Formats: sequence, C-alpha cells, structure tokens
Amino acid sequence: MGRGRRPLISRGKAFCPAYCPDMKVLFIGDIVAKSGRTAVRALLPAVVSRYKIDFVIANGENAAAGFGITEPVAEEIFSMGVHVITSGNHIWDKKDAIPYLSKENRVLRPLNYPPGVPGYGSIVWSVRGMKVAVLNLSGRVFMSPIDCPFRTGMAEIERLRLETNCIVVDFHAEATSEKIAFGYFVDGRVSAVLGTHTHVQTADEKILPGGTAYITDAGMTGPAESVIGIEKEQIIERFLLQMPRKFETAKGTAIFSAAAIEIDDKTGRALAIQRLQLTYP
Ligand SMILES: [Fe+2]
Ligand SMILES: [Fe+2]
Repeated sequence: MGRGRRPLISRGKAFCPAYCPDMKVLFIGDIVAKSGRTAVRALLPAVVSRYKIDFVIANGENAAAGFGITEPVAEEIFSMGVHVITSGNHIWDKKDAIPYLSKENRVLRPLNYPPGVPGYGSIVWSVRGMKVAVLNLSGRVFMSPIDCPFRTGMAEIERLRLETNCIVVDFHAEATSEKIAFGYFVDGRVSAVLGTHTHVQTADEKILPGGTAYITDAGMTGPAESVIGIEKEQIIERFLLQMPRKFETAKGTAIFSAAAIEIDDKTGRALAIQRLQLTYP
C-alpha cells in the first residue's frame, strides 16, 4: 500500500486472542436443523476458548428441522453455551413458538412486528459486570410487510442506550442495500450490526467510521452441500417445475458460520470483527 493510501475498509485491529478487559461477543449465523445444532455442539467450546468469548448469540429461526424453533430445540441450543437466540421471518413456523416466545425473553423475534405481537425484540444481558443489549430487527425489502426497522430500531436503540452503550443488532433481511443502509444509519449508536437471513456469508466485515462493527450476512450454520440448507435436488426441481413441494433439510458435512466482535465496553465502540467459517465433521 503506497504512502498516504488508506485501506478502503477498516476491519479494526486484529482480534485480541487473550483475556482482556474488552467484551468479546460471538454471533452465529442461522442455525439450520440438526446439522447446524450438531456443528454448534461440536465446535462452539473450541471457538469460545480460542477467542475468549464472553457472550454468545445465535440466530435460531431455522433451528427446528429447518423451519422455526420449539422449546426443546431452544433449550438444546442454550445448553450448548448460547446465551441469546435471535430469529426472523421463520419464527412462527412452529405453532408452539407463540406461547413459548411469550414467556421466554432469551428467544427474540424481530422487534418491528406490529404492536400486539407476542414475544420480545430485545434483551439486556450482564456479562463479567458489563451490560450488553441484543436487538433483533427484520428488513422489509423482498420480505413480508412489517413496521419500519429504521424508525422502530432507532427508537429502541435510544431506549437501550439509557442502560448500555454495548448493543448488538441482528438485522434479518434479504436485500444487501437495506442492511448496508441500516448499518450506516445506526453507525456510532450501536456496537455491531450483523446481518442474517440469506444463509450466505458475505466478505464485507468492517468497522464503520462511527465505530459500529458490520457484516451484511454472518452466513448459515447447517448443511454445507445444500441450497441455503435444503436438499439441492428439491430446490432444483422447484426451479424447473415451478410447482409447490415439500422441502427437507440436507444431510452431510455442516458449515459453521459466525462473526466474533470485540467491543470497548466503556464506549460501546467495536474494536475488531473477525469472520469465521468452519466445517463439521
Ligand atoms: Fe434463516
Ligand atoms: Fe429468514
């Protein structure tokens, strides 16, 4: 790099591999079915130990057989060391999610569902004497109609900031433009904006100018040889015939996709973001 040139994007400093005062958060992209859960069970302890992770968030909207989440599946994920589960448009696929989300504040659904929808869209967690908030939002482009994530999200961020500067947002959305715009919209007001929903990890992790860690999509934790988690032959047939059919999640080697973020808990600014992709077995 020539003199006077600055890197186009900043990934922050290298992720600190040691125990340090900063808060270290791991965010696991959409866990798909048993394949994804098995990968989390097998790989999470080593990742937590290697990166000295304090707090683990996982998107679990596809955790139960690829569609939605149930209480036993959520409990299984919590037992693996995940602290908070976020979700998205698939959250209501299993009917027992409705009573479950009404009583379990560690499983979030997008905050910007209309008023009256059961469940919680944010939570504040205490870790090593520090507080971190998790906020779940859904985008609107190429997705079901929902309240404005920008206005609803910013109002909630300002409310959460009364309690902590450390805020991690799961922005569950299809369009890259909507995610990138939201990242800049809240830059400096939250510690991280981590995209989910497409199940494809993007290579654009960075620290935005105001100090917010950002990635358009953290990717999927589920069957690697699949079309975003589903048996590839079934999806190819769907594209060829344009007829409805039953989808099943694929088998075989799993991919574990995540992002690790290091946060200065005094300011809430992100110091580093590290993208992860591992396979199991
Ligand atoms: Fe998903
Ligand atoms: Fe989704």
